[in-house]
Amino acid sequence: MDNDNRVYIFDSTLRDGEQTPGAKLNAREKLEIARQLARLGVDVIEAGFPISSPGDFRAVQQIARLVEGPVITALARTVKEDIDCAWESIKDAEKPRLHIFLASSDLHMDKKLRKDPEVCLQEAVEAVRYAKSFTADVEYSLEDATRSREDYIFKVIEAVIDAGATVINIPDTVGFAVPDEFGLLIKKIRTKVPNIHHAVLSVHCHNDLGLAVYNSLAAVQNGARQVECNINGIGERAGNAALEEIVLAMVIRPDQFPFKTGINLKEIYRTSRMVSKLTGIPIPVNKAVIGINAFAHSSGIHQDGVLKDKRTYEIINADLIGGQAGQMILTARSGRHAVRHQLEEMHYELDQEEFATFYQSFLELADKKKEVYPEDLEALLIDISFAEPTYELVYLQTVSGTKTVPAAVVRLKKGEEMLEEVSSGAGPIDAAYKAIDKVTGIDTRLENYNLRAVTHGLDALGEVSIKVTHEDKIIIGRGVSTDIIEASVKAYLDSINKLINLQANRNSNNIFRNRYRL
Ligand code: KIV
Ligand code: ZN
Repeated sequence: MDNDNRVYIFDSTLRDGEQTPGAKLNAREKLEIARQLARLGVDVIEAGFPISSPGDFRAVQQIARLVEGPVITALARTVKEDIDCAWESIKDAEKPRLHIFLASSDLHMDKKLRKDPEVCLQEAVEAVRYAKSFTADVEYSLEDATRSREDYIFKVIEAVIDAGATVINIPDTVGFAVPDEFGLLIKKIRTKVPNIHHAVLSVHCHNDLGLAVYNSLAAVQNGARQVECNINGIGERAGNAALEEIVLAMVIRPDQFPFKTGINLKEIYRTSRMVSKLTGIPIPVNKAVIGINAFAHSSGIHQDGVLKDKRTYEIINADLIGGQAGQMILTARSGRHAVRHQLEEMHYELDQEEFATFYQSFLELADKKKEVYPEDLEALLIDISFAEPTYELVYLQTVSGTKTVPAAVVRLKKGEEMLEEVSSGAGPIDAAYKAIDKVTGIDTRLENYNLRAVTHGLDALGEVSIKVTHEDKIIIGRGVSTDIIEASVKAYLDSINKLINLQANRNSNNIFRNRYRL
């Protein structure tokens, strides 16, 4: 395989992925994901759309300053104000790229922009020239390219390359394309645009018809050499092409897709889990490559086959994507050494003090649950706070039933003070949340609530992830416990503590920080 077969992976989890309803991330969370994307080996990180909010601007700026390795890019419309703002946010990056976009379909130009195609073409060229005055690396995207007139997009591509664009991106913005047709479009661009060899040809596929991955692969087979995709396929509406699926298709079927990427396969599993936890978007159990059922065999015939030879019913080995790194099932009798060893296998590094806190939580869990799996350890790491929280749960009692008014008693510790409140509610969780509100006096709005079982069985840990808003702030809270009401209360308290930290501008206690060997 020569260099012609190298496909660049452009990750847009932090920009298009964050456009998933309910997936808003704060700056710290974006930074942690960006660091993990660098470990994963993506070539480009699209860190955000800086003009969209001051918060996003700061998040992109922090990523640009702190994350080394990949190209860091930020999105901008074809207006100076956007480009200035995007450049200001990424200018300190080791390898900055400006990413400019404008619609190219008659539908978008006429109905949305209310502009003539020639005016749009001129704007595109001027924007690229302007971006070029800041950096050599400029990407230009033709929004809604797959519903645009071919002669028009060829003209735009030629003009923006002449103006200095180094990457040309062809988005299937509404997931309308089908593979043969999309592949053909890429081929035509390569043959009909005379200066196309001066730019890298990229694609960006949405999944409205469930074809995003297939369309991206068809494009690569026809000469595209950058693929824009997101972890777990999250993104606007039905999402974007899933990074892990594209990469694995190339690894498992090199006969069909003889291409290579710079992706470190062993980091796929961890990246996927991290993105799911921090965005609060669960991974479907049957999700290709990464869902928990992807390596589970339930029918007797399949189990028999796999026991005799895994290859009978498995084309992807979980170990390949870092999913089974030395799995060990721990119990209450497992000593510190075994627990630390397992954490190290999972690439978590805790200092002595952190490990002491962690081990205590592990013992409490192992008392309730006979077998503790690696997934449980990961959930515990999310749950325990290594910094002093403002409020700590000391006591919780709830009542609920068919003929009872649900009620809760909550006792919280704040410094040396013990604070207790009682409340009724629509259910025990609502009652407990209201009791907490009475104690803290903080008014929040619950936007999103997710509960999932971390492993199998009735004694499985329940992991609750919630999203609350307070004024203009969005906060994700998480909690785990074998008792789902307790997990829900912990998640709520976690969000309250984070909010207080944020207001006081204190440092994060995000467990992902520095916890990976970088
Ligand atoms: O889907 C799309 O067209 C986009 C562009 C801004 C690249 O996200
Ligand atoms: Zn998009």
